[in-house]
Amino acid sequence: MAAILLDGAAIAQDVYAQLHERIQRLHVRGIQPGLAAILIGENSASRIYLKNKARACARVGVHSEMFEFPADCSEHEIFSKLQALNADSRIHGILVQLPLPAHLRSERILQAITPAKDVDGFNWVNLGAMVAGHTLLAPCTPLGVMTMLDYARSPIEGRNAVVIGRSALVGKPLALMLIARGATVSVCNSKTTDLRQYTSIADILAVAVGRPGLIDGSMIKPGAVVIDIGINRMPDGKLAGDVDFASASQVASRITPVPGGVGRMTVAMLLANTVTAAERSLGIEVPYPAQ
Ligand code: GUN
Repeated sequence: MAAILLDGAAIAQDVYAQLHERIQRLHVRGIQPGLAAILIGENSASRIYLKNKARACARVGVHSEMFEFPADCSEHEIFSKLQALNADSRIHGILVQLPLPAHLRSERILQAITPAKDVDGFNWVNLGAMVAGHTLLAPCTPLGVMTMLDYARSPIEGRNAVVIGRSALVGKPLALMLIARGATVSVCNSKTTDLRQYTSIADILAVAVGRPGLIDGSMIKPGAVVIDIGINRMPDGKLAGDVDFASASQVASRITPVPGGVGRMTVAMLLANTVTAAERSLGIEVPYPAQ
């Protein structure tokens, strides 16, 4: 393999060590950062994600609480809970685990989280602030990607960055963060005509489509930094990204694995956002690394 592996687990460990210091300083000031998570309905993947988030909280000294609602609960019940959590001074971060049961409108529910506690960065106020170039709380997965690029000492300014995937929660915010850092950004999607035309000029290639093997080594510019955000469950039960790792790692200079890459960063960034929200509740100004 020619490429250097960008090890999400190792970078996340480093992030946790830095968070631990910030949390200790908050403890001295009588504050324990608190994260509240809402789980609606029975979804085994969501339950596992939330268990991982709670475990990470316990490890670094963040208080966490989970509130469960039945699949047939009303939007009104969720709004009431969110109102109470918005007003709860022990809680600095709130998340509603997605996906939601079909009768609940996620776009409405996510707007009911007060922007200062929206540690997923999904509220339109926080997404809109990114458009204006003033990130407040950024979505965790793209923030994790930017953190990985910085750990890799990968130059961003002036580089061609290609993002494949245009979702509101990953592709679009990642493109905005790269723009804010001075990259020349193309945003493609799974239907882009001649994807290779874009990928072959990408110094930074980030792929978040959910299609295993969409990108192979022949499509990658030699020396590119390749960030694989896809997580696909294969027929044999194993996880795979959107990038064919075997061929891509022969061409790229740096590459993230799946599993063990970006996925590990998402939870670390959730905790980072929670600590940031707690610090801001004390009036401490926290700059964003991705700005
Ligand atoms: N479901 C899958 N990923 C996420 C995430 O990052 N946040 C929330 N709230 N739900 C998710």
